[in-house]
Amino acid sequence: METKRIVIKDRNNVKEEELLEAAEILRRGGLVAFPTETVYGLGGNALDERAAGKIYAAKGRPSDNPLIAHVSCESEVEPLVKEIPEAGLRLMKAFWPGPLTIIFPKSDRVPSGTTGGLDTVAVRMPDDPVASRLISLAGVPVAAPSANISGRPSPTTADHVWQDMNGRIDMIIDSGAVGIGVESTIVDVSAPVPAVLRPGAVTMEMLRQELGEITVDPAILGPVSADVKPKAPGMKYKHYAPKADLILVEPKESPGSPSVMDKAQVERMVDKVQILAKKRLEEGHRVGIICTDESRHSYSEGLIRSIGTRESQESVAHNLYAVLREFDELQVEYIFSESFAEDHLGQAIMNRLSKASGYNIVRI
Ligand code: TXA
Ligand code: MG
Repeated sequence: METKRIVIKDRNNVKEEELLEAAEILRRGGLVAFPTETVYGLGGNALDERAAGKIYAAKGRPSDNPLIAHVSCESEVEPLVKEIPEAGLRLMKAFWPGPLTIIFPKSDRVPSGTTGGLDTVAVRMPDDPVASRLISLAGVPVAAPSANISGRPSPTTADHVWQDMNGRIDMIIDSGAVGIGVESTIVDVSAPVPAVLRPGAVTMEMLRQELGEITVDPAILGPVSADVKPKAPGMKYKHYAPKADLILVEPKESPGSPSVMDKAQVERMVDKVQILAKKRLEEGHRVGIICTDESRHSYSEGLIRSIGTRESQESVAHNLYAVLREFDELQVEYIFSESFAEDHLGQAIMNRLSKASGYNIVRI
Protein backbone atom coordinates (compact mmCIF):
# COMPACT_ATOMS: atom_id res chain seq x y z
CA MET A 1 0.00 0.00 0.00
CA GLU A 2 1.25 3.47 -0.77
CA THR A 3 1.21 5.80 2.21
CA LYS A 4 0.44 9.42 1.44
CA ARG A 5 2.08 12.06 3.64
CA ILE A 6 0.56 15.50 4.02
CA VAL A 7 2.07 18.40 5.94
CA ILE A 8 0.12 20.88 8.06
CA LYS A 9 2.46 23.86 8.42
CA ASP A 10 0.59 25.77 11.09
CA ARG A 11 -1.40 23.55 13.44
CA ASN A 12 -3.09 26.56 14.99
CA ASN A 13 -4.42 27.63 11.66
CA VAL A 14 -5.71 24.42 10.05
CA LYS A 15 -7.96 24.82 7.06
CA GLU A 16 -10.78 22.41 6.48
CA GLU A 17 -9.63 21.65 2.91
CA GLU A 18 -6.35 20.34 4.25
CA LEU A 19 -8.10 17.56 6.17
CA LEU A 20 -10.97 16.60 3.85
CA GLU A 21 -9.18 13.70 2.21
CA ALA A 22 -8.01 12.32 5.56
CA ALA A 23 -11.55 12.53 6.96
CA GLU A 24 -12.87 10.72 3.87
CA ILE A 25 -10.31 7.93 4.33
CA LEU A 26 -11.48 7.46 7.94
CA ARG A 27 -15.14 7.40 6.89
CA ARG A 28 -14.39 4.78 4.23
CA GLY A 29 -12.73 2.50 6.81
CA GLY A 30 -9.09 3.38 6.05
CA LEU A 31 -6.24 4.33 8.41
CA VAL A 32 -4.77 7.80 9.01
CA ALA A 33 -1.96 8.61 11.45
CA PHE A 34 -2.42 12.02 13.04
CA PRO A 35 -0.81 14.22 15.71
CA THR A 36 -2.23 14.65 19.20
CA GLU A 37 -0.77 16.63 22.11
CA THR A 38 0.60 13.39 23.67
CA VAL A 39 1.94 11.16 20.86
CA TYR A 40 0.96 10.46 17.23
CA GLY A 41 -2.09 8.21 16.92
CA LEU A 42 -3.04 5.62 14.30
CA GLY A 43 -6.67 6.40 13.54
CA GLY A 44 -9.53 4.33 12.17
CA ASN A 45 -13.35 4.46 12.53
CA ALA A 46 -14.06 3.23 16.09
CA LEU A 47 -17.51 1.97 15.09
CA ASP A 48 -16.18 -0.15 12.24
CA GLU A 49 -14.85 -3.49 13.38
CA ARG A 50 -12.95 -3.99 10.13
CA ALA A 51 -11.11 -0.70 10.59
CA ALA A 52 -10.13 -1.85 14.10
CA GLY A 53 -8.87 -5.09 12.54
CA LYS A 54 -6.70 -3.09 10.15
CA ILE A 55 -5.23 -1.10 13.05
CA TYR A 56 -4.23 -4.29 14.88
CA ALA A 57 -2.68 -5.67 11.67
CA ALA A 58 -0.73 -2.48 10.86
CA LYS A 59 0.71 -2.32 14.39
CA GLY A 60 1.21 -6.06 14.82
CA ARG A 61 -0.74 -5.63 18.05
CA PRO A 62 -2.52 -8.42 19.94
CA SER A 63 -6.26 -7.92 19.36
CA ASP A 64 -7.11 -8.36 23.07
CA ASN A 65 -5.53 -4.95 23.70
CA PRO A 66 -8.36 -2.41 23.43
CA LEU A 67 -8.26 0.91 21.54
CA ILE A 68 -9.09 4.44 22.75
CA ALA A 69 -12.01 6.14 20.96
CA HIS A 70 -11.16 9.81 20.29
CA VAL A 71 -13.91 12.44 20.15
CA SER A 72 -13.96 16.14 19.30
CA CYS A 73 -16.71 17.30 21.67
CA GLU A 74 -18.65 16.09 24.72
CA SER A 75 -21.84 15.28 22.82
CA GLU A 76 -19.94 12.60 20.90
CA VAL A 77 -19.36 10.68 24.16
CA GLU A 78 -22.96 9.76 24.94
CA PRO A 79 -23.53 7.32 22.06
CA LEU A 80 -20.41 5.39 23.08
CA VAL A 81 -21.20 4.84 26.75
CA LYS A 82 -23.91 3.27 28.90
CA GLU A 83 -23.69 6.02 31.49
CA ILE A 84 -21.42 8.83 32.58
CA PRO A 85 -20.70 8.38 36.29
CA GLU A 86 -20.32 11.50 38.42
CA ALA A 87 -16.52 11.10 38.61
CA GLY A 88 -16.38 10.91 34.81
CA LEU A 89 -18.32 14.14 34.48
CA ARG A 90 -15.96 15.91 36.83
CA LEU A 91 -12.90 14.69 35.01
CA MET A 92 -14.31 15.71 31.62
CA LYS A 93 -15.05 19.18 32.93
CA ALA A 94 -11.65 19.61 34.52
CA PHE A 95 -9.31 18.05 31.95
CA TRP A 96 -10.95 17.85 28.49
CA PRO A 97 -9.81 18.55 25.92
CA GLY A 98 -6.50 17.19 27.17
CA PRO A 99 -4.19 14.28 27.89
CA LEU A 100 -6.73 12.22 29.85
CA THR A 101 -8.46 9.00 28.75
CA ILE A 102 -11.55 7.96 30.70
CA ILE A 103 -12.87 4.37 30.85
CA PHE A 104 -16.69 4.12 30.85
CA PRO A 105 -19.13 1.21 30.69
CA LYS A 106 -19.62 0.82 26.94
CA SER A 107 -22.82 1.06 24.90
CA ASP A 108 -23.85 -1.54 22.33
CA ARG A 109 -22.83 0.76 19.48
CA VAL A 110 -19.12 0.22 20.15
CA PRO A 111 -18.08 -3.07 18.57
CA SER A 112 -16.16 -5.50 20.74
CA GLY A 113 -13.49 -5.50 18.01
CA THR A 114 -12.58 -1.99 19.21
CA THR A 115 -12.58 -2.78 22.93
CA GLY A 116 -10.76 -6.11 22.81
CA GLY A 117 -13.90 -7.87 24.03
CA LEU A 118 -14.23 -5.73 27.19
CA ASP A 119 -17.58 -4.26 28.28
CA THR A 120 -15.95 -0.89 28.87
CA VAL A 121 -14.71 1.72 26.40
CA ALA A 122 -11.81 4.18 26.68
CA VAL A 123 -12.63 7.71 25.47
CA ARG A 124 -10.40 10.74 25.02
CA MET A 125 -10.88 14.26 23.69
CA PRO A 126 -7.46 15.38 22.46
CA ASP A 127 -6.31 18.97 22.77
CA ASP A 128 -4.71 19.34 19.37
CA PRO A 129 -6.38 21.42 16.68
CA VAL A 130 -5.44 19.00 13.89
CA ALA A 131 -6.76 15.96 15.78
CA SER A 132 -9.89 17.72 16.87
CA ARG A 133 -10.70 19.07 13.40
CA LEU A 134 -10.03 15.71 11.77
CA ILE A 135 -12.35 13.84 14.16
CA SER A 136 -15.13 16.35 13.74
CA LEU A 137 -14.82 16.31 9.92
CA ALA A 138 -14.78 12.51 9.85
CA GLY A 139 -18.06 12.56 11.77
CA VAL A 140 -17.19 9.30 13.55
CA PRO A 141 -15.32 8.54 16.78
CA VAL A 142 -11.72 7.71 15.90
CA ALA A 143 -10.04 4.67 17.46
CA ALA A 144 -6.37 5.48 17.83
CA PRO A 145 -3.55 3.67 19.54
CA SER A 146 -0.08 5.18 19.40
CA ALA A 147 1.13 4.98 15.78
CA ASN A 148 4.12 2.71 16.40
CA ILE A 149 4.73 -0.94 15.62
CA SER A 150 3.65 -2.80 18.74
CA GLY A 151 6.44 -2.89 21.31
CA ARG A 152 8.42 0.04 19.89
CA PRO A 153 8.60 3.47 21.54
CA SER A 154 5.57 5.66 20.76
CA PRO A 155 6.07 8.18 17.94
CA THR A 156 6.44 11.85 18.85
CA THR A 157 7.19 13.07 15.31
CA ALA A 158 5.77 12.20 11.88
CA ASP A 159 9.19 10.81 10.92
CA HIS A 160 8.87 8.25 13.73
CA VAL A 161 5.46 7.28 12.33
CA TRP A 162 6.93 7.06 8.83
CA GLN A 163 9.68 4.69 10.06
CA ASP A 164 7.08 2.29 11.47
CA MET A 165 4.01 2.73 9.24
CA ASN A 166 5.16 3.58 5.73
CA GLY A 167 3.46 1.11 3.38
CA ARG A 168 1.04 -0.11 6.06
CA ILE A 169 -1.54 2.69 6.24
CA ASP A 170 -3.28 5.15 3.91
CA MET A 171 -2.03 8.48 5.18
CA ILE A 172 0.21 10.27 7.67
CA ILE A 173 -0.57 13.84 8.71
CA ASP A 174 2.63 15.64 9.65
CA SER A 175 2.32 18.71 11.85
CA GLY A 176 5.71 18.52 13.53
CA ALA A 177 6.72 17.29 16.97
CA VAL A 178 4.02 16.74 19.61
CA GLY A 179 4.02 18.78 22.81
CA ILE A 180 3.85 16.37 25.76
CA GLY A 181 5.61 13.27 24.49
CA VAL A 182 4.13 10.54 26.73
CA GLU A 183 0.71 8.93 26.31
CA SER A 184 -2.42 10.15 28.09
CA THR A 185 -3.28 9.37 31.70
CA ILE A 186 -5.94 6.63 31.88
CA VAL A 187 -8.58 6.72 34.63
CA ASP A 188 -11.26 4.03 35.00
CA VAL A 189 -14.51 5.45 36.35
CA SER A 190 -16.53 2.29 35.70
CA ALA A 191 -15.68 0.97 39.19
CA PRO A 192 -17.00 2.54 42.45
CA VAL A 193 -13.62 4.11 43.24
CA PRO A 194 -11.86 5.67 40.21
CA ALA A 195 -8.56 4.00 39.39
CA VAL A 196 -5.53 5.27 37.52
CA LEU A 197 -4.44 2.65 34.99
CA ARG A 198 -1.64 4.61 33.30
CA PRO A 199 0.12 7.77 34.54
CA GLY A 200 0.46 10.75 32.20
CA ALA A 201 0.44 14.53 32.06
CA VAL A 202 -2.77 14.75 34.07
CA THR A 203 -0.92 13.82 37.23
CA MET A 204 -1.93 11.95 40.38
CA GLU A 205 -1.75 15.25 42.27
CA MET A 206 -4.18 16.88 39.81
CA LEU A 207 -6.57 13.90 39.91
CA ARG A 208 -6.58 13.78 43.73
CA GLN A 209 -7.45 17.41 43.88
CA GLU A 210 -10.39 16.85 41.55
CA LEU A 211 -11.70 13.52 42.87
CA GLY A 212 -10.37 13.04 46.40
CA GLU A 213 -10.24 9.27 46.66
CA ILE A 214 -8.51 7.48 43.82
CA THR A 215 -6.67 4.16 43.57
CA VAL A 216 -3.68 3.17 41.47
CA ASP A 217 -3.48 -0.04 39.48
CA PRO A 218 -0.49 -2.06 40.78
CA ALA A 219 0.73 -2.53 37.20
CA ILE A 220 1.80 1.14 37.21
CA LEU A 221 4.08 0.82 40.19
CA GLY A 222 6.18 -2.19 39.34
CA PRO A 223 6.33 -5.56 37.65
CA VAL A 224 3.24 -7.66 38.29
CA SER A 225 3.35 -11.44 38.59
CA ALA A 226 1.82 -13.51 35.80
CA ASP A 227 -1.38 -14.21 37.75
CA VAL A 228 -2.23 -10.53 38.31
CA LYS A 229 -4.06 -8.96 35.39
CA PRO A 230 -3.40 -5.24 34.86
CA LYS A 231 -6.68 -3.42 34.26
CA ALA A 232 -5.33 -1.78 31.12
CA PRO A 233 -4.42 -4.84 29.06
CA GLY A 234 -1.68 -2.87 27.29
CA MET A 235 0.23 -2.41 30.55
CA LYS A 236 1.14 -6.08 30.66
CA TYR A 237 3.35 -5.94 27.59
CA LYS A 238 7.04 -5.03 27.67
CA HIS A 239 6.25 -1.89 25.91
CA TYR A 240 7.80 1.42 25.03
CA ALA A 241 10.92 -0.59 24.52
CA PRO A 242 14.06 0.19 22.55
CA LYS A 243 15.95 -2.66 20.86
CA ALA A 244 18.89 -2.33 23.25
CA ASP A 245 18.94 -3.56 26.85
CA LEU A 246 18.06 -0.55 28.97
CA ILE A 247 19.40 -0.45 32.52
CA LEU A 248 17.98 2.17 34.83
CA VAL A 249 20.02 3.42 37.78
CA GLU A 250 17.94 4.65 40.69
CA PRO A 251 18.69 5.90 44.21
CA LYS A 252 17.55 3.38 46.84
CA GLU A 253 15.41 5.87 48.71
CA SER A 254 13.41 6.72 45.64
CA PRO A 255 10.72 4.01 45.28
CA GLY A 256 7.66 4.86 47.32
CA SER A 257 8.97 8.24 48.37
CA PRO A 258 8.21 10.47 45.44
CA SER A 259 10.26 13.34 46.71
CA VAL A 260 12.75 15.34 44.75
CA MET A 261 16.22 13.87 44.52
CA ASP A 262 18.98 15.62 46.35
CA LYS A 263 22.33 16.51 44.85
CA ALA A 264 24.20 13.66 46.55
CA GLN A 265 21.75 11.11 45.19
CA VAL A 266 22.13 12.44 41.67
CA GLU A 267 25.92 12.37 41.97
CA ARG A 268 25.92 8.75 43.12
CA MET A 269 23.62 7.86 40.26
CA VAL A 270 25.88 9.54 37.70
CA ASP A 271 28.91 7.69 39.10
CA LYS A 272 27.13 4.36 38.86
CA VAL A 273 25.98 4.98 35.27
CA GLN A 274 29.60 5.72 34.36
CA ILE A 275 30.92 2.55 36.01
CA LEU A 276 28.32 0.31 34.37
CA ALA A 277 28.76 1.93 30.95
CA LYS A 278 32.54 1.67 31.14
CA LYS A 279 32.38 -2.07 31.75
CA ARG A 280 30.26 -2.66 28.63
CA LEU A 281 32.42 -0.31 26.56
CA GLU A 282 35.52 -2.23 27.59
CA GLU A 283 33.84 -5.42 26.41
CA GLY A 284 33.54 -3.77 23.00
CA HIS A 285 29.79 -3.05 23.02
CA ARG A 286 27.97 -0.04 21.61
CA VAL A 287 26.72 1.86 24.64
CA GLY A 288 24.24 4.71 24.97
CA ILE A 289 23.91 6.95 28.02
CA ILE A 290 20.78 8.86 28.96
CA CYS A 291 21.79 11.85 31.05
CA THR A 292 20.45 15.36 31.68
CA ASP A 293 21.65 18.85 30.76
CA GLU A 294 23.01 19.11 34.30
CA SER A 295 25.07 15.92 34.20
CA ARG A 296 26.12 15.99 30.54
CA HIS A 297 29.61 17.28 31.32
CA SER A 298 30.30 14.36 33.70
CA TYR A 299 30.33 11.82 30.88
CA SER A 300 32.97 11.35 28.22
CA GLU A 301 32.64 7.84 26.79
CA GLY A 302 29.82 6.18 24.85
CA LEU A 303 26.96 7.77 22.90
CA ILE A 304 25.74 10.43 25.31
CA ARG A 305 22.30 12.00 24.96
CA SER A 306 20.65 14.47 27.29
CA ILE A 307 16.96 13.73 27.79
CA GLY A 308 16.24 17.24 29.12
CA THR A 309 16.80 19.23 32.27
CA ARG A 310 15.97 18.25 35.86
CA GLU A 311 14.50 21.75 36.15
CA SER A 312 11.68 20.77 33.78
CA GLN A 313 9.94 17.38 33.88
CA GLU A 314 8.13 18.51 30.72
CA SER A 315 11.41 18.61 28.81
CA VAL A 316 12.23 15.04 29.90
CA ALA A 317 8.81 13.66 28.91
CA HIS A 318 9.03 15.52 25.60
CA ASN A 319 12.36 13.94 24.60
CA LEU A 320 12.02 10.49 26.14
CA TYR A 321 10.81 8.43 23.16
CA ALA A 322 12.89 10.35 20.61
CA VAL A 323 16.05 9.49 22.55
CA LEU A 324 15.10 5.79 22.72
CA ARG A 325 14.40 5.76 18.97
CA GLU A 326 17.67 7.50 18.21
CA PHE A 327 19.56 4.79 20.10
CA ASP A 328 17.72 2.17 18.02
CA GLU A 329 18.94 3.86 14.87
CA LEU A 330 22.48 4.00 16.21
CA GLN A 331 22.22 0.25 16.90
CA VAL A 332 23.20 0.65 20.49
CA GLU A 333 23.33 -2.63 22.46
CA TYR A 334 23.15 -1.28 26.01
CA ILE A 335 21.57 1.91 27.31
CA PHE A 336 22.29 3.15 30.83
CA SER A 337 19.90 5.78 32.11
CA GLU A 338 19.67 8.10 35.07
CA SER A 339 16.28 8.11 36.81
CA PHE A 340 13.96 10.85 38.03
CA ALA A 341 11.91 11.84 41.06
CA GLU A 342 8.41 10.40 40.84
CA ASP A 343 6.28 13.39 41.76
CA HIS A 344 3.97 15.08 39.24
CA LEU A 345 4.94 14.21 35.64
CA GLY A 346 7.87 12.21 37.06
CA GLN A 347 5.52 9.29 37.74
CA ALA A 348 4.74 8.96 34.02
CA ILE A 349 8.41 9.39 33.09
CA MET A 350 9.55 6.68 35.52
CA ASN A 351 6.68 4.38 34.52
CA ARG A 352 7.81 4.53 30.85
CA LEU A 353 11.53 4.24 31.63
CA SER A 354 10.98 1.32 34.05
CA LYS A 355 8.87 -0.51 31.51
CA ALA A 356 11.34 0.20 28.72
CA SER A 357 13.99 -1.40 30.93
CA GLY A 358 11.79 -4.42 31.62
CA TYR A 359 12.32 -3.41 35.28
CA ASN A 360 16.06 -3.91 34.94
CA ILE A 361 16.80 -1.40 37.68
CA VAL A 362 20.07 -1.02 39.58
CA ARG A 363 19.46 0.58 42.98
CA ILE A 364 22.31 2.35 44.68
O1 TXA B 1 -2.14 9.53 24.47
C1 TXA B 1 -2.74 8.53 24.10
O2 TXA B 1 -3.58 7.95 24.83
C2 TXA B 1 -2.44 7.98 22.69
C3 TXA B 1 -2.95 9.04 21.68
C4 TXA B 1 -2.84 8.56 20.26
O3 TXA B 1 -4.25 9.42 22.00
N1 TXA B 1 -3.03 6.70 22.50
C5 TXA B 1 -2.56 5.59 23.13
O4 TXA B 1 -3.22 4.41 22.77
O5 TXA B 1 -1.65 5.60 23.90
P1 TXA B 1 -2.61 2.97 23.06
O6 TXA B 1 -3.54 2.05 22.35
O7 TXA B 1 -1.19 2.92 22.65
O8 TXA B 1 -2.78 2.76 24.59
C6 TXA B 1 -4.07 2.60 25.11
C7 TXA B 1 -4.02 1.90 26.44
C8 TXA B 1 -3.64 0.44 26.34
O9 TXA B 1 -2.78 0.14 27.42
C9 TXA B 1 -4.98 -0.27 26.50
O10 TXA B 1 -4.81 -1.54 27.07
C10 TXA B 1 -5.74 0.68 27.41
O11 TXA B 1 -5.36 1.95 26.97
N2 TXA B 1 -7.20 0.57 27.26
C11 TXA B 1 -7.95 0.88 26.16
N3 TXA B 1 -9.24 0.60 26.38
C12 TXA B 1 -9.34 0.12 27.64
C13 TXA B 1 -10.42 -0.34 28.44
N4 TXA B 1 -11.67 -0.39 28.00
N5 TXA B 1 -10.14 -0.78 29.70
C14 TXA B 1 -8.86 -0.74 30.16
N6 TXA B 1 -7.80 -0.31 29.45
C15 TXA B 1 -8.03 0.12 28.20
MG1 MG C 1 0.80 2.43 22.61
